[in-house]
Amino acid sequence: MGSSKSVSQCTCVFLFTLWNNVELSIENKFTANYSCSFLTNVPKGIPMQTKVLDLSQNNIYAVHISDFSPLPELQVLNLSHNLISKLDFSAFKFNNDLQYLDLSHNNMSIIKCQFMEELRHLDLSFNKFNALPICQELGIMFQLKYLGLSGTMIRRSDFRAIAHLQLNTVFLTLEDLTDYDSGSLPDLSTRNLHIVFPTNKDFNFSLLYDGMSTSEKLEFFNIKYDLSYKDFQFPPLSLEKEFKTSNLILNNVDLSWTIILRIFMIVWYSHVESFTVKNLTFGGEIRLNKPDISSILKYQEQHFVSESLIKVVTLEHVRNKLFYFNQEIVYLAFSKMNIENLTISDANMPYMLCPEESSLFQYFDFSYNDLTDEVFKNCSTLTHLETFILPRNKFEKLSKVSSMTSKMISLKHLDISRNLLYYNEDEKQCNWTETLVKLNLSSNKLTDAVFKCLPLHVQILDLQNNQISTIPKEITELQALSELNIAFNRLTDLPGCRHFSALEFLNIEMNQILTPSSDFFQSCQNIRELKAGLNPFKCSCELQDFINIAKQGPARLGGSPELYVCEYPEGWKGTQLKDFHLSKIACNTALLLVTVLIITVVLVALVSFLCIYFDAPWYLKMIWQWTQTRRWVWNRHIDELPSHLQFHAFISYSEHDSLWVKNDLIPNLEREEGSIQLCVHERNFIPGKSIVENIINCIEKSYKSIFVLSPNFVQSEWGHYELYFAHHKLFSESSNSLILILLDPIPQYIIPARYHKLKALMAKRTYLEWPKEKNKHGLFWANLRAAININLPLSAKTNKV
Ligand SMILES: *[C@@H]1O[C@H](CO)[C@@H](O)[C@H](O)[C@H]1NC(C)=O
Ligand SMILES: *[C@@H]1O[C@H](CO)[C@@H](O)[C@H](O)[C@H]1NC(C)=O
Ligand SMILES: *[C@@H]1O[C@H](CO)[C@@H](O)[C@H](O)[C@H]1NC(C)=O
Repeated sequence: MGSSKSVSQCTCVFLFTLWNNVELSIENKFTANYSCSFLTNVPKGIPMQTKVLDLSQNNIYAVHISDFSPLPELQVLNLSHNLISKLDFSAFKFNNDLQYLDLSHNNMSIIKCQFMEELRHLDLSFNKFNALPICQELGIMFQLKYLGLSGTMIRRSDFRAIAHLQLNTVFLTLEDLTDYDSGSLPDLSTRNLHIVFPTNKDFNFSLLYDGMSTSEKLEFFNIKYDLSYKDFQFPPLSLEKEFKTSNLILNNVDLSWTIILRIFMIVWYSHVESFTVKNLTFGGEIRLNKPDISSILKYQEQHFVSESLIKVVTLEHVRNKLFYFNQEIVYLAFSKMNIENLTISDANMPYMLCPEESSLFQYFDFSYNDLTDEVFKNCSTLTHLETFILPRNKFEKLSKVSSMTSKMISLKHLDISRNLLYYNEDEKQCNWTETLVKLNLSSNKLTDAVFKCLPLHVQILDLQNNQISTIPKEITELQALSELNIAFNRLTDLPGCRHFSALEFLNIEMNQILTPSSDFFQSCQNIRELKAGLNPFKCSCELQDFINIAKQGPARLGGSPELYVCEYPEGWKGTQLKDFHLSKIACNTALLLVTVLIITVVLVALVSFLCIYFDAPWYLKMIWQWTQTRRWVWNRHIDELPSHLQFHAFISYSEHDSLWVKNDLIPNLEREEGSIQLCVHERNFIPGKSIVENIINCIEKSYKSIFVLSPNFVQSEWGHYELYFAHHKLFSESSNSLILILLDPIPQYIIPARYHKLKALMAKRTYLEWPKEKNKHGLFWANLRAAININLPLSAKTNKV
């Protein structure tokens, strides 16, 4: 840990982290962050209410009373990583609430103290003091809990001024230590002591012994010792009696094996319960020589009777400088330890010995090593082991791992994630210990077959990040399983709970599920949370059903809504499931059918009603006829008309209907003067000629013949025509010259059998019915006029009959 700082190395920490074990909730407007701003002075204009001010990682070289006097509310001030060389605490004399003052990583060599009543945290570590900056005023700051100091020498009396303060943590940086008066540290009264030793100096073991007599928790940084074991001094027995450290941490340690062994021995016979070594590099001869052994034995003899309190040993990140050493000795030493918890992690350890006798080990953490399937084979002495942590090793066969556990009769939790595990069905049977309840098999190479090799009573099972694509149908039931993590696999549907009746939590994120089947909730009655995000959902009716069921049920869909997104179809891609809705009808076939049916029925009813009430078909028929006629007239050229035509129409009717003909028919057809010429027998018949002759004459000179049909007409008039029609091609069936107006209905029986033509015409229904309703008359006449209205050849206008 260097105190050197430069702006280019400024790693911006934007979040203002508070000192540990201090809980202070500060609202944003009270926080001002000027960290990493290339400042050389404390800026002006900091908001007056500021309570937390971060000025760290700048180039500020001096502070003045005027800098902070406008900030009466200031509670937290971070001036670390600056260039301040001199400090007069009176600069803060108007900041009566100041509790946290971080001045670490500056260039200070001189300070002038001043009493600060509220100060709880004062950090002066990583500065350039020679003598420790402990002044009389510190001794009356009774709120002080954390004190960071730095210096190059420690004298016997240095801590006297603060000996009576009950501190929580003292952080000492002694980077250029030249002198230490042994026996100085124990004057301090603190629960935690952290000491940073120079990296380039041989460690002074009297600091370790004094530290162990000072605090419960002791942590050293940078321990290096290149001298021979002969210069090493064991602690005097009188001092050992004062040892009170129960938690010892050595960080960044570079020692020879013989020295490590000595430290272990000291720790062993002290009050330490938990011993941690982080970043350990060891070298030197592993095999001990005779004088070496005798000095160790001598120390051991003195302590032979006293019992060790040590329970936890932790070694993290261990490297050795030896090409070859007899590892057996080391493993043997560890396997013989009578401790509860042993961690050896990130140590390139390829092997570990099974203890020879039943051991006390409860907890092993051997993560990040090179252990293989061969470890603890047939080992029956680990009867107390409850937790076994083995991620990032080189285990391959799941069946061998299962046999390794078979005699660990207390094992509850096994973490063997991030190995190379696989299991083939044709392999030998798995043989797990029955006590296992939590098993972590994540990030391995396991396939579907893994379900045939699982401990029967497992409750929590982590199988994420493997290669599982289905859960086989034929597997033994895992009745106790309550938590299953199967995320990052290749499943295409939710597994039911046929084999896991107690399942409460299922994580199936990041699989290949398009449409989760909704009978999942039926099958999994105990489910409380389902995490299914990050699957390529196909947004359809089935999915909507699923979401609806999920919403109603007692189970919730875990994970944030952003994780649940439609992938298919293209139109819905990217839509979050919570925003995806299809109408009820679109998803319910029965409902859809019923709806269509109802609409059809209503339409039919409406149309029928319209037809009956307004006689719509009649209108339609009339309009259609009218348009047909218009079109026909349009297309027809004048010269196609025979030149002898004089009339637009000849009208034939019965005497009984003459009233209608005279009052309605003729006036309506001849509405526009002279536009339509009609041949009516009362008007145009030539006297002297027979009726039939007159009729034929009229018919032949008329463009159309209109017959006003009624029962009377049939009985009295039609007879004249029937014979005529029989002989004239003019009135062949295809001819358009006939217009029949049905004035009154004619029952079939009235028509005599010999009237073939009339019968045929009536049967074809090619007549115009005279509508009884007045409002229909207009259309009737229009239609009739259209049928006869053509431009007659010129002669018609002049020649009168
Ligand atoms: C002060 O700033 C330094 C550097 O940014 C940071 O490491 C430290 O934690 C800060 N102190 C507090 C109390 O936040
Ligand atoms: C050993 O480790 C386990 C698990 O981390 C922990 O619960 C237990 O307290 C540890 N034992 C001791 C003595 O610290
Ligand atoms: C299993 O191990 C992985 C990685 O080693 C970890 O992220 C996960 O939380 C563990 N699962 C459980 C249930 O502890």
